[in-house]
Parts: sequence; structure tokens; C-alpha cells
Amino acid sequence: MKILVSAGPTREKIDLVRYISNFSSGKMGYAIAEAAAKLGHECVLISGPTALRPPKNVKFISVESADEMFGEIRRESKNSDIIIMAAAIADYKPKKMAASKIKKREQSITIELIKNPDILEWLGKNKKKGQIIVGFAAETENLIANAKEKLIKKNVDWIAANDVSRKDAGFSSDKNEITMLSKSGEIIKLPLQSKKKLAVKILSQLLISSTNKPENDI
Ligand code: CTP
Repeated sequence: MKILVSAGPTREKIDLVRYISNFSSGKMGYAIAEAAAKLGHECVLISGPTALRPPKNVKFISVESADEMFGEIRRESKNSDIIIMAAAIADYKPKKMAASKIKKREQSITIELIKNPDILEWLGKNKKKGQIIVGFAAETENLIANAKEKLIKKNVDWIAANDVSRKDAGFSSDKNEITMLSKSGEIIKLPLQSKKKLAVKILSQLLISSTNKPENDI
């Protein structure tokens, strides 16, 4: 199978030396890509800037901004069987990037932000026959309700709900706890464990669901 994984944060430039980003470490996505390659699948990992080494036997594509990530995902998604969007893509970017370093002349400044493309939503709208699309829902409140809303709104097959407010799990931790929700109503709770172990379990579940998927399901 060809498995496409996105991971890490994006950086949205404010000027030549500054950017807006988030605390995503990339660990969850890298662990999924590593597990996919170990199982012998053809894996492409598209990653924002992280401190991690790309896993072995994975085609690695490095990007910075959401727009760059979108471009690479559009290209790589065409013939992917499973697409897992673990990246924490910035929702907004500065409307204009200053051409040089912004000097601290003013007492306060305002940076106008505009929306980035929602890549997962685009994937859901442009789903290929038999493709399985998976999103992650990073939530700090109403975990399951918000994750279900994303599952439906973005027309994806699975959402991995992730409570990012916890200290012992989530964003930069080595551990995570996930609840996987499927379009067809399955709810699979994966308790707190290492992201590497979790990656294998998430992937196994997706591989099972891809074998059960009817051919004409789009
Ligand atoms: N996502 C995306 N493009 C964006 C933002 C998010 O493809 N511009 C994807 C993420 O990779 C993830 C899913 O959408 O798989 C959910 O991301 P999340 O940050 O939890 O939610 P948002 O859709 O950004 O909504 P909100 O920030 O309002 O919770």
C-alpha cells in the first residue's frame, strides 16, 4: 500500500526572521511513518520543521508553511491508499510577510492573519476511490464531540481524537492516548502508551478497515 503521512508543525513567516507556529513535535506522525515502512508499505512522510530524524525506508519531504505542505500533499495524495494527517497545520498565516526584519519602533503592532487552506477538508472533498483518509483532532475541551464534528465536516474515514491539554500525553510527550472514531460509527479507545506502540495500533486498525472497505465506497 502507499501510505502518506503528514507530521510536525508548520511555520508561517511574519518577516525574514520570525514566524508563527505551534508546539507539535512531529513524534506521532514520524512513529506512524516508521511503523508503515517496517510493515513493508511504501510510505511518504511530509513534515514541517521538527528535531527528529526521518525514519528509514520512507520518502521524506520537508516543508515549512501550510501552503508548501498543501502543494506536496496534492501531488502525493493522488495515488495514496491511506492518508494520515498528523501534522499540526497552522490555521492562520500573516496576510503579508514583511520583506525585511520588522524594527521595534512602535509601542504595539498588529499582524493581520488570514486563513490557511484546510488540507484535510480538501482531501475529503477530493477523495479517490477506495482511499482512506484519517485526521487527528487536537482538542483541549469536549474531545469526542469536537472530534465527531471534524469527522463529518471534513468527510474523512477516521479521526484520531487527541487531548492536547494533558501534561502526560499529546504534543511534545513521547506518550499519547487516542480515541479513534470512524465514519461508520466505530469507537476504538487506545489507552496511554508510547507513540511508537500507538502508531502500530492505529495503523493496524486502518489496514483492517481498508481490507473491509467495499470497492465502490468513495
Ligand atoms: N488540518 C488541515 N489543514 C489545516 C488545519 C488542520 O489539514 N489548515 C488537519 C490536521 O492535520 C488534522 C485535522 O485537520 O488532521 C484537525 O486539525 P485540528 O487542528 O484539530 O482542527 P482544525 O480543523 O484546525 O479546527 P480547530 O482549530 O478549530 O479545532
